[in-house]
Amino acid sequence: MTTSLPRQDRIRRALELLRDKTTDKFDEIVPVEAGEYTDPVLAKEERDYIFGAVPSIVAHSSELARPHDFMTIQMPRNNLLIVRQKDGGVKSFVNLCRHRGAMLEDRDKGRCRIFSCGYHRWSYDPDGSLRAITRDNTFGEVDRGEHGLIEIPTEERHGFIWVVDNAKADINVAEWLGPDIDPMLASYHLEDLVCYKAAGFDEPTNWKIMQDAFLDGYHIQYAHPNTAGKIIHTNVMAFEDFGRHCRFIAPRKSIDRFLEEDPGDTPLDRYVTETHFIGPNSTLLRQPDHFQLLTFRPHPLDPMKSRMEQRLFVPTVENSGMPPEKWEHVWNKNWDILLAVLHQEDFPLLRDAQRGLVSADAGGMILGRNETANQLFRRETKRLVAAGRAANSETPSSP
Ligand code: FES
Ligand SMILES: [Fe+2]
Repeated sequence: MTTSLPRQDRIRRALELLRDKTTDKFDEIVPVEAGEYTDPVLAKEERDYIFGAVPSIVAHSSELARPHDFMTIQMPRNNLLIVRQKDGGVKSFVNLCRHRGAMLEDRDKGRCRIFSCGYHRWSYDPDGSLRAITRDNTFGEVDRGEHGLIEIPTEERHGFIWVVDNAKADINVAEWLGPDIDPMLASYHLEDLVCYKAAGFDEPTNWKIMQDAFLDGYHIQYAHPNTAGKIIHTNVMAFEDFGRHCRFIAPRKSIDRFLEEDPGDTPLDRYVTETHFIGPNSTLLRQPDHFQLLTFRPHPLDPMKSRMEQRLFVPTVENSGMPPEKWEHVWNKNWDILLAVLHQEDFPLLRDAQRGLVSADAGGMILGRNETANQLFRRETKRLVAAGRAANSETPSSP
C-alpha cells in the first residue's frame, strides 16, 4: 500500500494491478459474526460511541443556501433541526419543544423565521432561543435562557455540514479528517458545486451491511452484470489506508486499450472511478465531472434498520457551460440510472442478507484480504466502539 502518489501515478498503479490480474490486499482474512448486524446492545454502543462521538456529514451546504433555510434529519441518537443562521453560520438543535416534548418541526425542509410548536404554540427563534410562551401570565415564572432548544455540535467544512450527534460533545472536523483527507477534500472544492438532488431510503438492513456494499469492488460483475459490471472492472482496487478513512481507484473497462500500449502522457482520469470512505459512514465517489455521496445511518432503536441517503453534486448551470434544459436532462438521467441500480440490484440483495443473518445458526463468516475498504470500515468501527467502551468504564456513573 502506498500513500498519496500523484493521481496519474495512482491510476497507473491500478492499471498495473489489472495487468497482473490482482488487487491491493490486507494481510489477513478476518472473521465476522452474524451478531454484529443484529445485536441491540452493540447497536446502542455504535450509536453512542460512533455517531455520538465523531463528526458525520448530514448535508451539502447548498441544501441550506439562504438564512433561515432548515432541514430535519433523523440521526441515530437525536432527531435534528438544522438551520442556516442570519450570520451565515449553521446550527443544529434537537427537534423537540422544551415545553412537553412535541416535535417542533415535522417538515423535511423549508424556510422559517420562527419555529412554533403545534401543541401549545411556544415559539423559538432560528438560533434556538425560546421566543414566546403562550398565556405566560398563567404559566408561571420560566428562565427562558434555560429553555431554548438543545444545541448539537455542528460545523461546516469543505462544502458539507457535519454534526456530532451528542449535545455534550465537541466538534472538530479537520482533526477527525486528519492530515491526508482534510486537504484532499479541500482540493475538490465541493463548496463550488450544487447538490442536484438528495434522496433518502429507509431500509430493513443494518447500516454496516449497507455501507459495506458501497465499499465493495468485489461484487460488481456478479451483482451488477448488466449495469456497473459492464463499465467497471471487478476486484481491482488501488487502495490507500488513511487510518480512519481510505481511498481507492478502480479502473473502468475503457482503460483496457492501455493494457498493451503504454498510455504515455494521456490523462487517465476518465478511465477510472475514485472512491473515498469518509468515516464513520460515508462513501464519496469522484467522477470526472461530478461527485456522488452516499451516507448510512443506523435506526435510533432497531439494529436491523437503517437509512441511506444519496446526493449528487454537480457544477452549477453557469459553470457547466450547458444550457439549463440540457443540464437538467443530463443530471436527471444520471440520477435515475443510479437510483435504478440501487433499487433493483443492491437493495434486494442486502435485505435478503439481513434476513439470513437473523438465522440462529448463522455460523461464522469471513472478509477476504481483497476486501480492503470493507476491512478498514470494520476495523475503524470496532476501534471507535472499543474506545467508547474504555472511556465509559473509566467514567464513574453519576449518583
Ligand atoms: S409541547 Fe410545545 S408548546 Fe407545549
Ligand atoms: Fe452494488
